[in-house]
Amino acid sequence: MKVTSLCGWLTSSLLVGAASALTVAEINGKNFLSPYNGATFTNLTGIVTAKGPSGIWIRDVTPTSDERMSDAIYVFGSALAQNASILTGDVIVLSGKVSEYRSTSSYLYLTEIASPVVSAILEHGVEVAPRVIGVDTLSPPTEQYTSLDAGDVFGVPNNQNLISVINPVLEPTKYGLDFWESLVGQLVTVKSPHAVSRPNSYGETWVVGAWNTTGDNNRDGVTLTSKDGNPEAIIIGDPLDGTNSPTTIKLGDTLEDITGVVTYTFGFYYILPLTKVTVTSSLTPSLPPPTTLTSAGSCSGLTVGDYNVENFAPSNTAHTQAVAAHIVNYLLSPDLLFIQEIQDNNGETNDGTVASDLSLSALTAAIASLDGEVNYNYTYISPVDGADGGAPGGNIRVAYLFNPSVVQLRNPKPGNSTTATEVLPGPELSYNPGRIDPANAAWTASRKPLVAAWETVDGNNIFFTVNVHWSSKGGGSSMHGDARPPVNGALAARQAQAEVTASFIAQILAEDPSAYIISAGDFNEYPVTKPILDFLSLSKMQDLDEVAGIDVLERYSYLYDMNSQELDHMFVSPALANTEPEFEHVHVNTWAAYNDQVSDHDPSVARFNVCRQ
Ligand SMILES: *[C@@H]1O[C@H](CO)[C@@H](O)[C@H](O)[C@H]1NC(C)=O
Ligand SMILES: *[C@@H]1O[C@H](CO)[C@@H](O)[C@H](O)[C@H]1NC(C)=O
Ligand SMILES: *[C@@H]1O[C@H](CO)[C@@H](O)[C@H](O)[C@H]1NC(C)=O
Ligand SMILES: *[C@@H]1O[C@H](CO)[C@@H](O)[C@H](O)[C@H]1NC(C)=O
Ligand SMILES: *[C@@H]1O[C@H](CO)[C@@H](O)[C@H](O)[C@H]1NC(C)=O
Repeated sequence: MKVTSLCGWLTSSLLVGAASALTVAEINGKNFLSPYNGATFTNLTGIVTAKGPSGIWIRDVTPTSDERMSDAIYVFGSALAQNASILTGDVIVLSGKVSEYRSTSSYLYLTEIASPVVSAILEHGVEVAPRVIGVDTLSPPTEQYTSLDAGDVFGVPNNQNLISVINPVLEPTKYGLDFWESLVGQLVTVKSPHAVSRPNSYGETWVVGAWNTTGDNNRDGVTLTSKDGNPEAIIIGDPLDGTNSPTTIKLGDTLEDITGVVTYTFGFYYILPLTKVTVTSSLTPSLPPPTTLTSAGSCSGLTVGDYNVENFAPSNTAHTQAVAAHIVNYLLSPDLLFIQEIQDNNGETNDGTVASDLSLSALTAAIASLDGEVNYNYTYISPVDGADGGAPGGNIRVAYLFNPSVVQLRNPKPGNSTTATEVLPGPELSYNPGRIDPANAAWTASRKPLVAAWETVDGNNIFFTVNVHWSSKGGGSSMHGDARPPVNGALAARQAQAEVTASFIAQILAEDPSAYIISAGDFNEYPVTKPILDFLSLSKMQDLDEVAGIDVLERYSYLYDMNSQELDHMFVSPALANTEPEFEHVHVNTWAAYNDQVSDHDPSVARFNVCRQ
């Protein structure tokens, strides 16, 4: 190799002795943060592996044998990126400054080179072989994210340590973030990738490649399970050549091999592909079959559905028709439906309207015209205007649809937005339906659960229902973020809501330990986290997934980031658990392309024998 040009030296802040030039691996070091952060250097030699719009990536000419130290790095500088005489495969010598960059304090830092000046191009046309993940590198760990999560990425309390403060030595064989950090800056290839998500609104899709994974469900997604948040998945970002990846990718789609550079941006480790992602095949059938659980029309086979219908407003007739079609064609018009996210009669118009009779009658009319037989009635309680969270003006609430030829409210006496229904001897409800403790601070800016007592139309076979929509996880931190364990947004609110909901159910069971109770809805929480675990132990309710023997990996109702996850649940009282209930998740939305979703949640259907004789 021959030096073809030279720049002036920096001597005052020179970190490395003149005798030994720094390597990229030494700049990255064995920890998350560079030991050389802030230092200026000269004479760094590297092969250009890729060029992007605002910088280039280089790799040491001689690879390091330490798998903790990435021998590749991002060199930030648009002049360099746009300099047509610097090409992939060039061996360049440069000076610059080691910099740890993040745009937001909740993110991890990316180690990069700032203020680069190329002093020489030693060679052109050197072949740059991408490192094949799992072949030329370690394989991604499949369960834990970092040594700072105390063994449980979903554990509480959250936010006990910051990676940027502890700066642990990387353990890439054990921890997912350590693994991806050990590859930061590398040109890599993902062999035989498939999508474990749909593209987000930026067109970015999570994938896994030809490496071991845990949590694989039947749709080739990866399901979140206890202490396993699937760090083996990686998100594929914007192509470096300015092309666009398809926005129609679906869960389980297989893709052509992806080659790109590993980076950290927007709160996650990414692979930025050299060019757009290409789908090679999609799974069939494209949507699941309808539920197999049909109503007997009587107490021996009562069907109960649950569906978060995502900001349902009657003005959106296409959405109304699509929700109705799901209820009729996929849920087979269950006898009783727990619904969440019904907006008031004028949707998000913020004018004090709170009633939702027009919203619900639009839905029941659409169902009736598609079904031809089932003509639902409904019941709900309007919230205080603006008090229950959700889209401003929308006043989302939970509601029940019921088939009045099968079930009816027992001694109906509807409560209002501010009165708490109480458990009376019997057990009976003081208001039916009624809201649970609406003045409790646990429900600030959130939906109050709607409790109801039901009977079959012959006046027998009493059972209770609790329809919930707990606070959402908004405001949390990324699974790849600085805070460990990550901040589970609004955890404290859901914990309080779990306790209030559970204590109400416990009062019914204290009156009658053999009461039939179903609590269902959008709990906005995984089954493996404290609010749900505490809800179960305080209420004595049982997880219907467990009771009905649903495979742990098929328990999902939502796709978020890399995980197929379960936010929507049905829980049953011990006596009802003993009647051999059946349960099915209907993945009619998680399997669909982004634009074909009717809601962001999957519905589910159960079948119960509630006969008392
Ligand atoms: C940088 O490289 C030049 C040319 O090879 C050499 O003269 C100089 O000593 C080197 N400086 C350092 C700090 O390595
Ligand atoms: C591009 O890089 C070459 C090689 O370092 C340099 O000689 C040239 O001045 C650069 N061009 C621009 C426009 O910066
Ligand atoms: C992948 O799984 C197989 C089968 O369990 C195991 O033999 C192999 O060691 C695993 N590979 C890695 C890299 O963990
Ligand atoms: C609908 O249900 C409510 C509450 O049970 C009842 O008052 C009303 O009469 C029912 N309407 C019809 C049309 O069945
Ligand atoms: C709710 O009902 C209670 C008891 O009947 C009554 O005192 C209260 O004014 C009502 N609140 C609203 C908002 O209607």
